[in-house]
Amino acid sequence: MSARTTVPSVRGRKVRRGDVPLVMVTAYDAPGARMADAAGVDMILVGDSLAMVVLGYDDTLQVTVDDMAHHTAAVARAKPAALVVADLPWLSYHVSVEDTVRNAAQLIRAGAHAVKLEGGRKRLPMVEALVDAEIPVMGHIGLTPQSVNAMGGFKVQGRKHDAALALAEDAKALEHAGCFAIVVEGVPDEVGRMLTEAVDVPTIGIGAGPGTDGQVLVFHDVLGIEDRITPKFVRRYATLGAEGTRALGAYADDVRTGAFPNADESYHLASGEAEALGLYGAHLA
Ligand code: KIV
Repeated sequence: MSARTTVPSVRGRKVRRGDVPLVMVTAYDAPGARMADAAGVDMILVGDSLAMVVLGYDDTLQVTVDDMAHHTAAVARAKPAALVVADLPWLSYHVSVEDTVRNAAQLIRAGAHAVKLEGGRKRLPMVEALVDAEIPVMGHIGLTPQSVNAMGGFKVQGRKHDAALALAEDAKALEHAGCFAIVVEGVPDEVGRMLTEAVDVPTIGIGAGPGTDGQVLVFHDVLGIEDRITPKFVRRYATLGAEGTRALGAYADDVRTGAFPNADESYHLASGEAEALGLYGAHLA
């Protein structure tokens, strides 16, 4: 069994200091967490992408703290060696500092080791309050999906130099407020590198090029469980969706033709019991 990943062990990881890039993947249930952990990932993110890839919504705005806690608990029951980070969903950290700490505590009590929240400098009071309550926080800047309406869609951020510089200020402020790592999503490669250079905590990229201190992808994207949308930044390592459809089709055919279940896949009475019931026949053997 590999050693457990801890917040302090993540905080110190920088590729520029010779460290190997961090690996994070999302998971939303116990079997997914077991697969990710057996694969040796460093961190499992119970992402609010839950809304889109598991619950069938069109954006991440629909999930609640209760939804996130439910799925965080399922992941935690797998007892992964990976660090479990749970997303604070939209509106769970926007109203007040008190609300933020209470909502984050629900995710920690469900089994998360840390929480992640989206946004830069305007979230600093929330980040500071969480750190003060001994709750480790991962930041998330760039394309922040909870801002889909404010951004006018899922759009690459930091394309202009002033927007890129603003992101660098956000990254430094989050680090200063106590974030132990920062997800950088949907920015040009050059901006991903600049943000990584700007801070001493690791940056975890998604659609931010190869220059960050780690990468994160969504479980269903890596495994090709869905192929309705393939963002440019996704690499599929399997086609489980197609394989699953093929397998379910074969099962349906076998049921319809009577090929499933066979004798080996059935329970049988001992011969004396079968006789006592007046049942005879080769199929009872
Ligand atoms: O919810 C999520 O899956 C995420 C990652 C894409 C970073 O926030």
